[in-house]
Amino acid sequence: AEQQQALKDEIKALLKARNAVLVAHYYTDPEIQALAEETGGCVSDSLEMARFGKHHPAQTLIVAGVRFMGETAKILSPEKTVLMPTLEAECSLDLGCPADEFTAFCDAHPDHTVVVYANTSAAVKARADWVVTSSIALEIVEHLDSEGHKIIWAPDRHLGAYIEKQTGCEMLRWQGACIVHDEFRAKALQELKAQNPDAAVLVHPESPQAVVELADAVGSTSQLIKAAQTLPHKKLIVATDKGIFYKMQQACPDKEMVEAPTGGNGATCRSCAHCPWMAMNGLVAIRDALRDGGKPHEIQVDEDTRVKAMIPLERMLNFAE
Ligand code: 13P
Ligand code: SF4
Repeated sequence: AEQQQALKDEIKALLKARNAVLVAHYYTDPEIQALAEETGGCVSDSLEMARFGKHHPAQTLIVAGVRFMGETAKILSPEKTVLMPTLEAECSLDLGCPADEFTAFCDAHPDHTVVVYANTSAAVKARADWVVTSSIALEIVEHLDSEGHKIIWAPDRHLGAYIEKQTGCEMLRWQGACIVHDEFRAKALQELKAQNPDAAVLVHPESPQAVVELADAVGSTSQLIKAAQTLPHKKLIVATDKGIFYKMQQACPDKEMVEAPTGGNGATCRSCAHCPWMAMNGLVAIRDALRDGGKPHEIQVDEDTRVKAMIPLERMLNFAE
């Protein structure tokens, strides 16, 4: 505990010295979320992280999350130094949608408007007309559909299916998945729901469609936290990364929260409701990033890609405002 405290103090001093601010995702470990709050940074979903990083006056952003979040920050704020605890914090959606294959796919359907999820590389964003996050995907696709656009959607197949179902708009869909949310199981969830008839079910739309169909609320991480507060239920079954419980419990101290069942136990499931890449964001890595900077920590996006990727990102932020 003493060592922990010394590390936190060191990070606080480095944040000041570097004129830096800590931006963290809800899936990072509680101690990191707490530190971000304590030091005037932000803890949020991916849309709010992007907005916060863009508008905050600090010269350096330290992004605790996964690589695409750091890249998004850099794309929107090229004049800032963007550091990450580790650049090896990936995302299965990003990895499952390589830019060259995706570009070929788009080129084969030139009459389509290209909508990509924020969980993609800068190069994939550079090929897109729109970037969306889970908190605004539905509204943006609805808007495009009402204007008669034909849409390519990438990379999350479950979120894509959910949007299709909600909007009635058919899209050409890339078949990626999040290894964390893909593990939630509808049958086991149904059983848990039957055992807890008074509980509300909260589901992130990266989960399989059969799981989404059992939900009382579907949404991005911050939308799920809001739903936890708003719904009258005292018990909540939650299908998203466990990291969310820190904030959700803070927001609803009097409610009981239960993890939704996944496909395996510790021995068999690949992620067990906690993203292995989010878990790479530790206090030591944050300290190292702030102290040492440079190659293992600093996000770089080549200028041509950055300028192209900024257009669909700005489009999303303007639409959201
Ligand atoms: P949101 O925070 O936008 O809901 O994104 C979820 C996610 O997968 C981040 O890894
Ligand atoms: Fe990607 Fe899933 Fe991890 Fe989010 S939780 S970063 S979508 S792998």
